[in-house]
Amino acid sequence: MRIGLIGTGRIGTFHAAALARRPEVESLVVADVDAARAADLAARLGATAAPSVDALFPGGASGSGVDALVITAATSAHAQLIARGARAGLPVFCEKPIALDLPGTLAALTEVESAGTILQLGFQRRFDAGYAAARAAVRSGRLGRLHTVRATTSDPAPPPAAYLPLSGGLYRDCLVHDFDILRWVTGREVTEVYATGSDAGPAMFREAGDVDTAAVLLTLDDGTLATATATRCNGAGYDVRMELAGEADQIAVGLHARTPLTSAEPDGPGAPDKPWPGFLERFAPAYEAELAAFVDVVRGELANPCDGREALHALRIAEACELSRAERRVVRLAEIAGA
Ligand SMILES: NC(=O)c1ccc[n+]([C@@H]2O[C@H](COP(=O)([O-])OP(=O)(O)OC[C@H]3O[C@@H](n4cnc5c(N)ncnc54)[C@H](O)[C@@H]3O)[C@@H](O)[C@H]2O)c1
Repeated sequence: MRIGLIGTGRIGTFHAAALARRPEVESLVVADVDAARAADLAARLGATAAPSVDALFPGGASGSGVDALVITAATSAHAQLIARGARAGLPVFCEKPIALDLPGTLAALTEVESAGTILQLGFQRRFDAGYAAARAAVRSGRLGRLHTVRATTSDPAPPPAAYLPLSGGLYRDCLVHDFDILRWVTGREVTEVYATGSDAGPAMFREAGDVDTAAVLLTLDDGTLATATATRCNGAGYDVRMELAGEADQIAVGLHARTPLTSAEPDGPGAPDKPWPGFLERFAPAYEAELAAFVDVVRGELANPCDGREALHALRIAEACELSRAERRVVRLAEIAGA
């Protein structure tokens, strides 16, 4: 199989290395608007660098014979690259998000659905062993009736200020992962949210109209209550967890020797020796597994594990949160377009 990868930045470098390790991937061609960056990565991996992004599409120098595309470029490029891939009849894996707004997301989905092509989105938590075990526990009935879910995502340090206006804000950029995995683990839909946020931390968040910390109360369609919190300012380390409590038992995803959490009890566990520093370390096996799954999807051996409609659902929850924060009220998902 010959795969073209577009965008050789932080996550693109990681995904390209994972693809290069797959025995089914006979040839990997990488491209970036920064051609030198693509050439550098290709040299390190023994891959091929395309002279331009255009070269990866049919008619382009490297396009003939590409069997699938992996899009890891900056978010602003996703929707048009997805559309070009669909028009070329190519299966596409794209990092989240499809676009930062609903019209852009729906337009890209229309392209994919009218072409009848595959679009897999990069919600890697679906491939994390802990979340998969939690999903199985919910489905098996082992927890009894699920009544409470507590999700959290905490980044160890704020991103560069220049990133904030391009990110879509904390709900669309960060909590969107919690919204996707909440739906996937519980198998339920969110019906309403109340979201609030704080910009009391670094001034760059206020200047960007964003928040550095957020809390969301979500109601699921079976009455289960969930909370999701996120912060960009968790000095203890990178902390992604989910607790699920039912009438019979409760479990936690992400409760691990590297969880950056210290017990306040005199006889409780102390600080971890090696707290998770970031998402690439915490989710390395999950990223690897989602790319392996994409290869299987392209080969026709696996159904798409996370299609564009799934990403749309998660974005709609994030949109509802932004509306809730702005208007300081409960927002029903039915109010958000794109259902
Ligand atoms: N699933 C996750 O956990 C996760 C984690 C990190 C990033 N991401 C997503 O991955 C994407 C990339 O993030 P990153 O952190 O690697 O960013 P980055 O800035 O490190 O890399 C982006 C790369 O895209 C290139 N680029 C920009 N526009 C392009 C275009 N039109 N065509 C080709 N290349 C282009 C840039 O030159 C750069 O090399 C973002 O959409 C982000 O939301 C997802």
